[in-house]
Amino acid sequence: MKYLVTGMEMKLLDENTTKHFGVPSEILMEQAALVFVQELLLQYPESKNILIACGGGNNGGDGVAIARLLNQKNKNATVLLCTEKEEGLLKQQLQTYQAYHYPLVRQIDDLQDESFDLILDGLFGTGLSRNIEGNYYTIIEQLNAMHATKVAIDMPSGISAEDGHVLGIAFHADDTYTFSYEKLGQYLYPGADYCGRIHCLAIGITEESILERKPRAMYLEDEDIRQLLPKRIPDGHKGTFGKLLVIAGSVDMAGAAYFAAKAAYRTGVGLVKICTPQENRMALQTLIPEAILHTYGKTIDKNVFLEDLKWADAVLIGPGIGQSEQAKQLLQWTRAGVIAPLVMDADALNLLSENTDDLINPHLDVVVTPHLGEMSRLCQMPVSYIESHFCEKACEFADTYNVVCHLKSARSITAVPYGNHYINTTGNSGMATAGSGDVLAGIIASLIAQGMPYDLASAVGARIHGQAGDVAAQKVGKYALMASDLLDGLTELAYLQ
Ligand code: APR
Repeated sequence: MKYLVTGMEMKLLDENTTKHFGVPSEILMEQAALVFVQELLLQYPESKNILIACGGGNNGGDGVAIARLLNQKNKNATVLLCTEKEEGLLKQQLQTYQAYHYPLVRQIDDLQDESFDLILDGLFGTGLSRNIEGNYYTIIEQLNAMHATKVAIDMPSGISAEDGHVLGIAFHADDTYTFSYEKLGQYLYPGADYCGRIHCLAIGITEESILERKPRAMYLEDEDIRQLLPKRIPDGHKGTFGKLLVIAGSVDMAGAAYFAAKAAYRTGVGLVKICTPQENRMALQTLIPEAILHTYGKTIDKNVFLEDLKWADAVLIGPGIGQSEQAKQLLQWTRAGVIAPLVMDADALNLLSENTDDLINPHLDVVVTPHLGEMSRLCQMPVSYIESHFCEKACEFADTYNVVCHLKSARSITAVPYGNHYINTTGNSGMATAGSGDVLAGIIASLIAQGMPYDLASAVGARIHGQAGDVAAQKVGKYALMASDLLDGLTELAYLQ
């Protein structure tokens, strides 16, 4: 598990390291410059001519220190100083730099030779607080247009460390070397697009410097998944590994039930019962004979349905159920009768958006898995607003309704009410395909049925789903990828063996 910190959190970590532990900020800056140069030269040993654009804050100070160390390693490093304001650590760094008489210009036009191998961006780091305009805007435009490998110091300038927004314009990096902790804005889009490869460098700020509230944002790694996955006890039987009720599918949508049920089996659940219209019986019995079926016609036997709810260790409702009166009825009975943890997806969420107050249920473990469109209906806000307030809206929703909100997009987030939020770092654009969400809902529900806590199951499920997608993309390619490839991908994940 790795923290993703905001700019404000990083500022506190810096300050705590200096004030509480007495490590001077000058030492932290020197350490940052040293490890940056070491890593840069490991990756780009042949580079010779290097331009370092420096702004007026500490990111600029880092840039000047890096330029000094590069010159001392016999590289031709030139500082492009883009600020009139020379204060604090930047001023100190400039005094030292200029005492060595290393190259410095104040305008791109003053450069003698523009053939650089590397361009380093030290204009703004985590302290960027407003839109970039004027001279800085022009400089970033010019830097982006130059033909050279581009490397950001800590953050690509123009990307908000808080949420990944582009503030006016942003430096487009091939690599970002960030200090101590990766930043939330590097993992959320569009920021993630501007970072290139992210490398995190230790500079002596450790978890001991977290003196206030721990960062809420984080991502899971494979090691976490290995530890969190329910154990396959050798003498277990199918009941041991959980019973899942999947309420899914409608007359024209048998596939949704199939994908959710099969993904659940592929991730370890012992038994799946599918509750679906009788028209789907034949298709499902052929596609997934391992599933138990409870099919219904024009009327549904409420008592049998309530028995199913009691039988289950976890319940998934929504994939492909449509928004008919019958679907409404099933949702209502489920919400009233369920005692096991409940995952609500797709049409269940569309139906709920008519009255989200129905969601508040303090006694149940509930997971909702909306995509942007469903979230827009649930919150009654435009998709563009949800997109630009991605983390905020997921967290707000989780807190308001006391549910785990797994908001799906290119970088999905699992927001736990008043708790952590997990950003999923796996997956690819090939997964934006019909049935992909049904697979995800099946995986999450399967893990819960096997006993994994519902908050972790959502974050773990998202990572597994993304990795199955990455395996599938390797095999069939992103264009060809279909939901059934995700089911195959699940069979190849090392930790599921
Ligand atoms: N336009 C112009 N100036 C701006 C803008 C903007 N859009 N946004 C912020 N500033 C100014 C701030 O007023 C401040 O003077 O830029 C400076 C902040 O620059 P940063 O270097 O990003 O922030 P700072 O907090 O000084 O340093 C953080 O230092 O620890 C290193 O590289 C690490 O990213 C980290 C950086």
